[in-house]
Amino acid sequence: MDIEDELQATIADMVQPGKGILAADESLPTIAKRFKPVGAESTEETRRAYRSLLFTTPGLGEFISGVILFEETLGQCADDGTPLAQVLAQQNIVPGIKVDKGKIPLAGAPGDEITQGLDGLAERLRVYKGQGARFAKWREVYAIGERNPTQLGIDANAEMLARYAAVCQEEGIVPIVEPEVLIDGDHSLQHCLEVNEAVLHAVFHALHRHRVVLEYMVLKPSMVLPGKLHPTRATPEQVAAATVKVLRRTVPAAVPSINFLSGGLGPAEATANLSTMNALFSGLPWALSFSYGRALQEPVLQAWAGNAENRAAAQQALYQRARLNGLARYGKYQLEMEEEP
Ligand code: 13P
Repeated sequence: MDIEDELQATIADMVQPGKGILAADESLPTIAKRFKPVGAESTEETRRAYRSLLFTTPGLGEFISGVILFEETLGQCADDGTPLAQVLAQQNIVPGIKVDKGKIPLAGAPGDEITQGLDGLAERLRVYKGQGARFAKWREVYAIGERNPTQLGIDANAEMLARYAAVCQEEGIVPIVEPEVLIDGDHSLQHCLEVNEAVLHAVFHALHRHRVVLEYMVLKPSMVLPGKLHPTRATPEQVAAATVKVLRRTVPAAVPSINFLSGGLGPAEATANLSTMNALFSGLPWALSFSYGRALQEPVLQAWAGNAENRAAAQQALYQRARLNGLARYGKYQLEMEEEP
C-alpha cells in the first residue's frame, strides 16, 4: 500500500458512524493523579491491569473506533500475553499513540506554553508503527487569561502542530491535531469563542503552509464554554451554537472528522453537549464525534478502584459511557438514559 492509501484506510477505520475515540494516553504523572482519588497506586503493573481491563471490554468496538495509547502501553500485554495493540485490533479498534513530550513555558510569551517532542519524531513514529500504531496525537495547550494566549503563543503553537502533522503524514500515520483551550478561569463564553477562533484560524493557516493534507487528519478541539469559575454555566444549546459557529468559520470542509476532548467536563455534560450539536445541526461538512479521556473513564475508575474483583463492573461502566456517546454521534442521547441499567 502506498502512503496515501494507508492514510485513507486509517481514516476510514477511525471515522465511522456511531463511533468515537477513547483517549487512554495519560502520562505517568497524569495517570497517578487519576488513580489516587480511587485509592489505586500507579505502578507499571496496575497501569497494565487497568488498561487491559479497558481494552478487553466486551463489545467496546461497537462504539469505539480508535484508542490513543501512552508509549508504555504499546509495549504491554493483556493477561493472556496478547500485546494490547493487538487486543484493540481484534476488537476492530485502531491503536494510536500520543507522541508529544509535554509542555514548557514559551520563552518571550509569559503565561503561554509550548509542547516539545519534534526531535527524532520520524524515527519514533517508525518504531510505534512497527508496534501497531496507525495514528498519533499531539496536544498544544492555551490558557485564557487577561493577556493570554498572546499572538506569539498562538502562532508558535500552530507551527508545532503543523510540523508534527506533516511528519506523521510522511510516515503514513494519521495525525490527530489537538489545540486545547483550557476551561480554567472566569472568562465568558464569548471570550472563549474569540480565543478558539483565533487559535483554529492560526492552526489551519500553519497546516496549509506545511502542506498537511486535510483529508488525512482529525481535529481534536475544545468545546466553546464559559470558564469553570464564570458565574453562569452555559446550556448544551448555547455550547452547541457557539462551538459550531467557530468551527464553521475556521475548519475547512476537507477535514473528515472533529473529535472533541472533554477537558474537565463531567461525563453526562460532555455527552449532552455533543449530542445537542449533532441534533441541532445537520449537513455539516465534518463528522462531530468524541475523543474523551476523563469523560469516558471517570465512572470506570470509580467502579474499578484498583481492585481486580471489580473488573466486570468497571467494564460495564465503560461500555455504558461508550454506548451513550455513540448515541450522541446521532444526536439521540437523552439525560434520562443515565438512569437506565
Ligand atoms: P480529556 O477528554 O480528559 O480532556 O482528555 C483528552 C485528551 O486526550 C487530552 O489530551
